[in-house]
Amino acid sequence: MNNAAILEFGFFEDQTLADAKRVFEVNFFGYLRTIRAVLPHMRARNEGIIHNVSSGVGRVGNPGLTGYAATKGAIESFTRSLRLELRHEDVACTVMHPRLASTESARTLGYPESRMSDPEYVGRKLAGEIESTRHVIYTDWVTRIGLALAQRFPHIVRKGTERFLTEREERTGSEG
Ligand SMILES: NC(=O)c1ccc[n+]([C@@H]2O[C@H](COP(=O)([O-])OP(=O)(O)OC[C@H]3O[C@@H](n4cnc5c(N)ncnc54)[C@H](OP(=O)(O)O)[C@@H]3O)[C@@H](O)[C@H]2O)c1
Repeated sequence: MNNAAILEFGFFEDQTLADAKRVFEVNFFGYLRTIRAVLPHMRARNEGIIHNVSSGVGRVGNPGLTGYAATKGAIESFTRSLRLELRHEDVACTVMHPRLASTESARTLGYPESRMSDPEYVGRKLAGEIESTRHVIYTDWVTRIGLALAQRFPHIVRKGTERFLTEREERTGSEG
């Protein structure tokens, strides 16, 4: 289960290459290191499932999260390719999509609590899929449909982006 991640909000031009490398080191290369460690043993036993926790942000983007989004997009294409390499084995590799949940890192984004799920709900739903070998595992149908709509209708994402940035500015302004 590759779940660890760091999320550091910051617009691209305010960030350095070192910032991008740091987030890739954990969110992407961290996953690869774990996979390298377990894959030979899974292949030897001819069984095993590797779950890579991704994010909808990796598919549709989010302002202020260029590095984080890129790591999630990278893990999606990595997983697709590794699955093809493992097509003759009983070893599976998946991506899991958590629903937006009020965890420590997600809270730093400033989305209203009302729009964020209970992390325990999300964790339990995904834990219930631990034996699944489906390529993409969603928390629930809301996550699945929400992401499909966002990909099919990019103007929804743009509208959400405007709202996200306005709310963030108001919050930062009122805090300052
Ligand atoms: N929350 C959401 O809305 C949401 C939505 C989509 C996807 N996700 C994904 O879900 C996963 C879990 O995120 P979360 O929201 O639960 O974030 P979180 O509350 O910030 O937890 C991140 C976890 O990663 C661990 N971690 C960070 N850097 C590490 C490192 N270098 N080595 C080992 N562990 C490290 C942290 O451990 P410590 O506590 O010890 O630092 C922590 O347990 C991530 O892959 C995230 O991208 C979350």
